[in-house]
Amino acid sequence: MNEPIKKIAVLTSGGDAPGMNAAIRAVVRACTYYRIECVGIYRGYQGLIEGDFEPLSGRQVSNIINKGGTILKSARSKEFMTEEGRAKAHENLKEVGAGALIVIGGDGTFTGGLKFIQEFNFPVVGIPGTIDNDIYGTDNTIGYDTALNTVVEVIDKIRDTASSHNRLFFVEVMGRDAGFIALNAGIGSGAEEILIPEKEIGIEKLEESLGKGRDKGKTSSIVVVTEGEKIGKSVFELADYIKEKYPIYDIRVSVLGHMQRGGSPSCFDRVLASRLGVAAVECLLDRVSGVMVGVINNEVVLTGLNKAIKLDNEIDKELLKVAEITS
Ligand code: F6P
Repeated sequence: MNEPIKKIAVLTSGGDAPGMNAAIRAVVRACTYYRIECVGIYRGYQGLIEGDFEPLSGRQVSNIINKGGTILKSARSKEFMTEEGRAKAHENLKEVGAGALIVIGGDGTFTGGLKFIQEFNFPVVGIPGTIDNDIYGTDNTIGYDTALNTVVEVIDKIRDTASSHNRLFFVEVMGRDAGFIALNAGIGSGAEEILIPEKEIGIEKLEESLGKGRDKGKTSSIVVVTEGEKIGKSVFELADYIKEKYPIYDIRVSVLGHMQRGGSPSCFDRVLASRLGVAAVECLLDRVSGVMVGVINNEVVLTGLNKAIKLDNEIDKELLKVAEITS
């Protein structure tokens, strides 16, 4: 990193998350503020390989702070996993005159960024954008808060119908292998049981807890299940198992799916994304590369991309206790 940076490229990659647009906007506006150029790359690393670029000015990112998804689109590129793909991507960046790259996404996105630094010594900074909140080095990833609010809103609605029909609902939420969405949305929506991969619960404990609910006179229940945690069964198999053993329950399954990734970002996500977008540009201008910008205890913090990828964001034990006590 010897030459002064005159142009920064930005891309979004992996699963989209609400607030990614706010992050793009902040990156572009920070570039304008510091009098450097910004170029947007469409479709993540795949667009980088194909040279799908567009110069972005401050005005071009007007009215996107409130929009879900990502205006730059996203993709998971198999070609970027090959040396040839990455070499082509590097050529394209040089050709367009970009001196640094900001990547917005999760684990896979940062792994790509790290490879790029190792192979070409090209400056890269990461911004954590995923609804899963499974990135080490930040209290919240962009999109997580919005997704939580979406899930809570939907579970509230499911509870209305569950209670009207005296039903037991299994609600599957996203999170890949992480239980952050399930645990927090489960507490926030007053779920009777929460199944997350980080905590062994076992089928007996689930049965016991449903039984306790019955004894207390509960006529309807919500069990929130992380997609990565099914006690060795799919959420439908889990529901069938309980149904067979306890015919007393009128059971339904609701898989929330991709609706959790959409929608207008919450104010929290917009502010977080704005802070991280500005911080990422400032990092590169300070000649810092190979890091992810995050916010811990309300302070912007830098974490090595290798650490952000390798280490796990721990589930808060106190939250587990709260879930246990309040359910
Ligand atoms: O990482 C975000 C996420 O929404 C996960 O929660 C989920 O497992 C995965 O992406 C789904 O990926 P796709 O959109 O490719 O089906």
